[in-house]
Amino acid sequence: MATNVDADTLTSEVLQSFSTTPDERLKQILGSLTAHLHAFVQDIAPSIQEWEQAIDFLTRTGKTCTDVRQEFILLSDVLGVSMLVETINGQETPEATDSTVLGPFHMVESPARELGDDVSPESEGPRCVVSGRIISIDGTPIPDAKIDIWQADTKGFYDVQQPGIQSVGNGRALLRSDPEGRFHFRSVVPMYYPIPTDGPVGELLRATDRHPYRPAHIHFLVTAPGYRELTTHIFIGGSDYIDSDAVFAVKGSLVKDFTENPDPEDAARHGIPSPFRHGRFDIVLHPEF
Ligand code: BEZ
Ligand code: FE
Repeated sequence: MATNVDADTLTSEVLQSFSTTPDERLKQILGSLTAHLHAFVQDIAPSIQEWEQAIDFLTRTGKTCTDVRQEFILLSDVLGVSMLVETINGQETPEATDSTVLGPFHMVESPARELGDDVSPESEGPRCVVSGRIISIDGTPIPDAKIDIWQADTKGFYDVQQPGIQSVGNGRALLRSDPEGRFHFRSVVPMYYPIPTDGPVGELLRATDRHPYRPAHIHFLVTAPGYRELTTHIFIGGSDYIDSDAVFAVKGSLVKDFTENPDPEDAARHGIPSPFRHGRFDIVLHPEF
């Protein structure tokens, strides 16, 4: 090891220290991390105080994480990294439904519900029906696919954000597609909402004059044997913030009109007040490679 190192020698020495890493992928990742991180630090040339501030920010980000809060995922989200990872992986399966971010609220098991159930039984507000099919890239229906959904309520809150107000499981469901691959459920029309801003990520947004809002959406995580897992959303067309999602996760193909259905007989069939809104979302899975 050199004693009087200049910056470039230091970078080479760190790279060299990883040169015998047995796992080739880990070696590649650490090599690239070292090269980019050192270039970044050289670029911004932080003062010692700024470096300490950065360490403090990351420390507080870690300390903000709990069983029901993931501040590091949130940080990755607002930096666009989560969406970049989704996009890179989605490029392998362009025929499938577009994926988007998982987000930090998929942290409890969704309750099993029947097709057609109300997935937000504790939430008041205008109701919608969401229906569609789970199909393969060649149009073949996929029966018995596991459809995990979670959403905020009409005020923009997830169950886990409101202990004592919403029970865990409200706004969530585990459904199974029928023999023709179809699914449908009732719910409240979700509202746009701010991502959590009471932690370090909120500080970052305020310091950079960015708003924290996500357009209204419902999350889907769909799995079926023999198919690649899909993490996605259906976005409610016309929602506020549809063009400026705080986590950069809107893809045009995922924005659907929730049209008003004025037919009282349809409403009665679904067991909801008339009129209601209807969103249709067909989900295409890609076979496993
Ligand atoms: C969500 O949609 O649940 C979400 C995604 C990213 C950050 C915060 C929330
Ligand atoms: Fe969400």
